[in-house]
Amino acid sequence: MPPDPSLVARLSQAGQEHLLRWWNDLDDRSRDRLAAEVETIDLAEVDALFRQLVKEDSAPSAGRVGPVEVDRLPRTDGERVARRHVAAVGEKALAAGEVAVVIVAGGSGTRLGFDGPKGTYPIAPVSAASLFQIHAEKVVALSRRHGRMIPLYIMTSPENYGVTARFFEEHGNFGLAHVRFFVQGQMPAVDRESGKILLAEKGRVALSPDGHGGTLYALASPGKSPVGSCLEEMRELGVRTLFYFQVDNPMVKIADPAFLGLHRQADAEMSFKVIEKMAPDEKLGVVVRVDGKPQVIEYSDLPAELAELREPDGGLQLWAGSIAVHALERSFVERLVRGDSRLPFHRAIKKVAFVDDNGEVARPDTPNAVKFERFIFDALPMAERFALVETDRTVEFEPLKNATGPDSPATVRQRMSDRFADWLEAAGAKVERRSDGSVPFGIEISPLYALDAAELKAKLPPGLVVEGPLHLK
Ligand code: UTP
Repeated sequence: MPPDPSLVARLSQAGQEHLLRWWNDLDDRSRDRLAAEVETIDLAEVDALFRQLVKEDSAPSAGRVGPVEVDRLPRTDGERVARRHVAAVGEKALAAGEVAVVIVAGGSGTRLGFDGPKGTYPIAPVSAASLFQIHAEKVVALSRRHGRMIPLYIMTSPENYGVTARFFEEHGNFGLAHVRFFVQGQMPAVDRESGKILLAEKGRVALSPDGHGGTLYALASPGKSPVGSCLEEMRELGVRTLFYFQVDNPMVKIADPAFLGLHRQADAEMSFKVIEKMAPDEKLGVVVRVDGKPQVIEYSDLPAELAELREPDGGLQLWAGSIAVHALERSFVERLVRGDSRLPFHRAIKKVAFVDDNGEVARPDTPNAVKFERFIFDALPMAERFALVETDRTVEFEPLKNATGPDSPATVRQRMSDRFADWLEAAGAKVERRSDGSVPFGIEISPLYALDAAELKAKLPPGLVVEGPLHLK
């Protein structure tokens, strides 16, 4: 059967008719799938993106960029007391059921190279609990602490949705009272020279997740759910604030009351946790002001002469590195997804396997394609008010990105063990350390045993000496 004439017309008008080139080789199922995939693509948008983004460099010039004001880490007793007061505001919001937790887990995890969604990676230093289990148990423990159900929303890609949902099911949802998965959108990869959309197989478009900025639109999409979109459900539940983070950081202090309190105190629409960048070339996006407006510049877009600017005390001028932990007002997300000022797309030049002129799948050695992604931090300039809150990287940031070297399973497990050792020592235990301060064995404290150092202190038997692997659960 030939393809639907309206499909052919749509594709030829956009100069993408090659997508049907192998139509005669396909069975009926593959044809239906290909037609359905093409249906989801906004061809005019892809064309416009290719023209605008591939050819332009978006780095802002030096004179337009400056630092942005941040709530620094408390350094004096007075500041610490003020933080405790503001934490009470966040605790009140949690106890009132006004906070939902959103984890983004739709990435492809290419650098880690793990066979499965990154959230299922067994990361815990002793029990090998997965990233998902650690996050889920924090939410369970928080719900118990504040006496209120805290709903958890997990974004997946179309590709890893089934495996992720099954993983939770197999583990009894880790005891969560309310967990919902939602699926992000996809964008096609195009040939970097011609802008032609690539086929991954004869009957399959080369689609990939549309970036973590896709979260906002996916939250607003009803998907197949009978209860409407996640945003609608949140509204029904009385949720006002979303606490957002990425699946790859097991150290994150989920729904941190002080952060939520500062966000509320500033009447902010979007807030960020930031850390001080260690070096000008550290691979972290920085929060800055461009022409007076707050904005994040990706590390790859930050010119070296800006990254290296120093304050008189020697510190970096543009120091506020984003760790992708946010608070977002539900009303702000609703406004963004309704409005005209949509999040922009960024381009990434990547190696993408494609069907060549002989109908064979070619695996290029050099980057041949452009992928388009939205980034959640681009919502910042659209927020009427915002708060930036500094946190300590050793406490809250060690993402799992790579198979070896920095940000790998080895560094994450070490950092977790070291951090749990800090908690144990603060609670009065003695812990063996190497001369550089690191712990020579795995230490793990389940969120269900203690969510933080203060809770551990209240539970820990006196006189504990830790000389080998320890798992408190
Ligand atoms: P990264 O950009 O680090 O990507 O995503 P990644 O998939 O983890 O790893 P690489 O780059 O392929 O090696 C940061 C976070 O944003 C989520 C990821 O799941 C991760 O939690 N993300 C990224 C999405 O949810 N969707 C996307 O389209 C992209």
